Amino acid sequence: MKRWKGRRTDLLLPLVLLLFGAHSSLAWVCGRQMSGRSQEHSNASAIIGGKPANILEFPWHVGIMNHGSHLCGGSILNEWWVLSASHCFDQVENSKLEIIHGTDDLSTKSIKHQKVDKLFLHPKFDDWLLDNDIALLLLKSPLNLSINRIPICTSEDSDLKAWRNCWVTGWGVTNTSDERVQPTSLQKVKVDLYRWDWCGYLLPLLTKNMLCAGAPDPGKDACQGDSGGALVCNKKRNTATWYQVGIVSWGMGCGKKNLPGVYTKVSSYLRWITKQTAKAGRPYVYEQNSACPLVFSCRAILFLYFVMFLLTW
Ligand code: ARG
Repeated sequence: MKRWKGRRTDLLLPLVLLLFGAHSSLAWVCGRQMSGRSQEHSNASAIIGGKPANILEFPWHVGIMNHGSHLCGGSILNEWWVLSASHCFDQVENSKLEIIHGTDDLSTKSIKHQKVDKLFLHPKFDDWLLDNDIALLLLKSPLNLSINRIPICTSEDSDLKAWRNCWVTGWGVTNTSDERVQPTSLQKVKVDLYRWDWCGYLLPLLTKNMLCAGAPDPGKDACQGDSGGALVCNKKRNTATWYQVGIVSWGMGCGKKNLPGVYTKVSSYLRWITKQTAKAGRPYVYEQNSACPLVFSCRAILFLYFVMFLLTW
């Protein structure tokens, strides 16, 4: 009997530690809005032709500032990494770069800033074609993930038919006739993903690493200053989780009829992201597709609780 009691306490400690680990990894699962707000329910529709967004709807969105002024958008991959577009960082010193996060209002006084430690541009970035327009920013200190700072999920799924309900966000210009007008409140716009061959027909020089998206009515698009921001969608069978499918890259004008916006196709770069982040000593793992991470599936957690119950009884 005594032996069994001893074994029970031996077993309890690792179990409690396992459960603690499981819960802390569940706390800020990627692509989940913790506020219960959803783009589906907001009045459907700057960015062009968009409307103000709440950071709780897009908690992965960050602003990238250069010398204190807005440069580009970005998205949180995890507490150390921000994803953005390479073309944003032409002749930019990374010591002058800062990330603002956890807010949808650029004019907020108490805005949180985070310094950038290292900038990784894609080695094959082509500044003429804008091929491989992707960049990684490693932060000096980790982000404090919270309800308004949540990583976005990524997915290897490159089939456009897998996605629905796609949105772009940014602090870019809202009015093409006056590019000095930049909003202080984050803007969002709903867009549809277009088939690659159709886009290639509408836009010249589209590479296979790009995808394009637009709205059925002209006047809804990303624009100057939105670059680097995330194009996010739900999977057809999982409407609760948001995935980054694209990065705002370029366009011919903004919101013009039959000229959709062009985005870097994130699924083409997951290997590059994995390699770079591992090399930098802060590996990013991208298979976090569900609410319960791989090692600790929801069922496994329930099972652990059950075993704990039996042991303590
Ligand atoms: N290159 C622009 C930037 O640096 C983004 C342009 C996006 N244009 C568009 N029509 N979707 O902010």
